[in-house]
Amino acid sequence: MDEAALARKKALRQAFSAFATGVTVVTARDAGGRPVGFTANSFTSVSLDPPLLLVCPGKTSSNFATFSMADHFAVNILSAGQQEVSHRFATPVTNRFAGLAWHAGPEGLPLIDGAAATFACVRHQLVDAGDHVILIGEVLDSMTTGAEPLVFSRGRYRELASTMPEGGIRVGVVALHEGRVLLRRTAEGTWELPLGPVQPLFGHARNGCETELAKAGAAVTITHPYSIYDDGEKGESRFFFMAELEPFAALPADMALFAPDDLPPDLTRDPGMRDVLLRHGREHRKGRYGVYVARGQAPGSVSHMTGGSERWPDIFQPDSYLREGMPK
Ligand SMILES: Cc1cc2nc3c(=O)[nH]c(=O)nc-3n(C[C@H](O)[C@H](O)[C@H](O)COP(=O)(O)O)c2cc1C
Repeated sequence: MDEAALARKKALRQAFSAFATGVTVVTARDAGGRPVGFTANSFTSVSLDPPLLLVCPGKTSSNFATFSMADHFAVNILSAGQQEVSHRFATPVTNRFAGLAWHAGPEGLPLIDGAAATFACVRHQLVDAGDHVILIGEVLDSMTTGAEPLVFSRGRYRELASTMPEGGIRVGVVALHEGRVLLRRTAEGTWELPLGPVQPLFGHARNGCETELAKAGAAVTITHPYSIYDDGEKGESRFFFMAELEPFAALPADMALFAPDDLPPDLTRDPGMRDVLLRHGREHRKGRYGVYVARGQAPGSVSHMTGGSERWPDIFQPDSYLREGMPK
């Protein structure tokens, strides 16, 4: 094939790959009864009545003879997390089923455990199509687990957004009143720092936290950041702020104030929040406060700075100091 033809083939392959698909493993038994299979994303549902589907085995596949002659074959739609299974059935391995969790379905067809769906088929028609064939099967039996599917697009495995950790930002406060810290009692009976709802943007997360506390009867004024980190397990970025508790008549029933160096024994088990509380107690004793900023999942650092705060212009306004010059 000359260079221009190769380039055209590559461009066509790339254009085809823009069509996002699921990933299947097509299986059968070879002449010796051994399970065989290959990864295929050429699967298409074809007809409900009669129930038909198709896959396109390539003519260069080492298992082509088996699949083009098999009376029966199965299609396993892989679920999110079965990327390794897809890889295994697309690369040359002597026995692709070794160590794999699978079971024999109708006609002894190999069905892969944990698949999102499986179809046991009898061959309906084989259509010649260039360097592949179109293998149409009539579905004898099908099963679906409700597991989210694995997705393949532009040469990469992907997962649907619904299977990814939700992600978002939560703002919490170390709110002080006469030097004591405001804690909230959880349903489990432990004490934790007030934490607002998960929001996609920081401003919304901050407003959410302030509004929730104000509604509960413990209005706070946020002053400066205290601890910023990602909680990988919960898929949340957490921003803890120092805050002042506004004057109140009575605290909400589930809230109480504690001296920073005399926290209740039944403290939250949440490691990030525990660190905020314990570090605050230590800094209170030393009289020197810092801001903790994490580095991804690696340990972060605490930076110390002098106290005080000053009002700052709206950096997103056209007359911002970024154009007009630094405020005095
Ligand atoms: C995501 C993905 C989709 C694939 N789709 C097909 C397909 O539809 N038809 C096909 O013949 N090969 C497809 N392949 C390639 C085969 O899986 C691979 O060439 C085959 O397993 C080679 O091994 P074999 O020669 O032992 O069959 C695909 C590979 C991957 C990774």
